[in-house]
Amino acid sequence: MKVLVTGGCGYVGSNIVAALGDNGYTIGILDNLATAPVEIVEDLRAKVDAKLTFFETDVTHIEALKPAVKAFSPHVVIHCAGLKSIADSWQNPLAYFDVNVSGTINLLKAMDYAGCTRLIFSSSATVYGDPEFLPITEDHPLAPINPYGRSKLMAEMIMHDWQRKAEGRGVAVLRYFNPVGAHHDHLLGDNPKTPANNLFPIICQVLAGQREGLSILGDDYPTPDGTGERDYIHITDLSEAHIRAIAKTAEPAFLALNIGTGKPTSVRQVIAEFERHSNAQINARIEPRRPGDVATTFASNQLSVEKLGDYVHNTTEDAVASSLRAAGLKQHS
Ligand SMILES: NC(=O)c1ccc[n+]([C@@H]2O[C@H](COP(=O)([O-])OP(=O)(O)OC[C@H]3O[C@@H](n4cnc5c(N)ncnc54)[C@H](O)[C@@H]3O)[C@@H](O)[C@H]2O)c1
Repeated sequence: MKVLVTGGCGYVGSNIVAALGDNGYTIGILDNLATAPVEIVEDLRAKVDAKLTFFETDVTHIEALKPAVKAFSPHVVIHCAGLKSIADSWQNPLAYFDVNVSGTINLLKAMDYAGCTRLIFSSSATVYGDPEFLPITEDHPLAPINPYGRSKLMAEMIMHDWQRKAEGRGVAVLRYFNPVGAHHDHLLGDNPKTPANNLFPIICQVLAGQREGLSILGDDYPTPDGTGERDYIHITDLSEAHIRAIAKTAEPAFLALNIGTGKPTSVRQVIAEFERHSNAQINARIEPRRPGDVATTFASNQLSVEKLGDYVHNTTEDAVASSLRAAGLKQHS
């Protein structure tokens, strides 16, 4: 079976490509290398035991996208290509709507052109906005509070209407909480070409001496240790959820599922785990809370586990250990 992964050179996409390879799929990658290093394609070819075709194509360029998707003729598309920084989306909102929304419309047109009816989408918990209750279930109100979240929700809505429009179309929208860690063997970690925004890559950069320290944005939240709590899902478990969702897209339905562990972990707990594994002290200073951040957010993964089977096998500790290995950092034995 042929699966096309847009954004397959990025952090999430490359890990999904590795999982597809492990499961015997024929793989196409479509990526414009905007935020991924060019070497990743050869790296993936060397690491992934599968037939792999690469299209250096931009999802905003419909004239190039249509023939590329048609040439590969996938049975299923996994759409990971996109821009993902909340802060950047305030600075460049139109770029986010261009890539995440117009890019999605183009992809659906290209899939129609190629006769492909099955789609899995990399969505995000940001579509929910501020939590009105915890854990967040899929029927939580959809009220994103930044342009990035709005672009992901618009893309979801467009896919839903596309799915409803014709018989036989199947869409699985996977709303990731916080993907972390790296593939255990292939060590495909979160090493962005653009400045890191997420906690795990920032800590790795501190430990590698590329940053002086880490800012903890608020230690006066109403949480057990005062720092913010998030739901960190290991990238290998998240990739497995995609592999299982492939079968779901054979059903003519629109399925929206949270992908998370169902458990909150605090910033201080993550830092402590990195310190324990690296045997190094992490220079962290307390700064004021960042406007828009919430104290705690975590998923209900009940529905996704019911639909996909239990895909959560790794702990935060596993994610810390694999992140250190992928970043080439020393681990305490
Ligand atoms: N990593 C997270 O924390 C997280 C959380 C929730 C959702 N997501 C979603 O998952 C997806 C992948 O995220 P990631 O962490 O792998 O990001 P990433 O930046 O590592 O990967 C994105 C990939 O998309 C490619 N890309 C960007 N613009 C493109 C375009 N116009 N045409 C073709 N390719 C393009 C980039 O080159 C890159 O390889 C994104 O859609 C993101 O919104 C990520």
